[in-house]
Amino acid sequence: MLDYHDFLGEVLISEDDLQTRIAELGAEISRDYQGKNPLLICILRGGVMFLTDLMRHISLPHAIEFMAVSSYGVGERETTGQVRITLDLNTSVGDRDVILVEDIVDSGRTIASVLDLLSTRKPRSLCVCALLDKVERREVEIPVRYVGFQIPNKFVFGYGLDIDDYYRNLPFIGVVDLNKYEALHKKP
Ligand code: PRP
Repeated sequence: MLDYHDFLGEVLISEDDLQTRIAELGAEISRDYQGKNPLLICILRGGVMFLTDLMRHISLPHAIEFMAVSSYGVGERETTGQVRITLDLNTSVGDRDVILVEDIVDSGRTIASVLDLLSTRKPRSLCVCALLDKVERREVEIPVRYVGFQIPNKFVFGYGLDIDDYYRNLPFIGVVDLNKYEALHKKP
């Protein structure tokens, strides 16, 4: 496996900037949901790092749950437009204040599908908290109530986001230099 330094184009968002913004989001959610006990639903797998840091900054008692949907396959760089629920919740969202926690909103198809599905289960409220928002890639209009950072249309990785399933552990958001990455993967 390659060292990420071999294909890192630039650090787009540093660890410090991520942590500062996530603390702000946690404080904002704590204020907005005062007197409530929200249910945070993390969409696996990219949202995991964000969820675990975000929840440390939410001062209200809250619960967490996980869902998995498939949109990108390994080696694919774009959504297919098809989103399938591969792991459903273990709990009812009926009458709960639900916050969907995502690492990135790109075309918007993943979140749009999950919002559609969860709405049918009648939560008291339902909103989206996304760390990254690639606004210019949007194909489906969706409301994103909490946004960490709006980012340009670049191929990003780290802090939960993968390249071909690796590098999710990095504490910053980096941009892939695709020329370098693909050159390094060329078969002789
Ligand atoms: C990524 C990301 C979002 C989705 C966003 O997930 O975590 O769920 O794509 O794209 P969209 O707005 O175009 O639908 P991915 O399918 O790569 O799975 P992963 O989280 O397991 O990496």
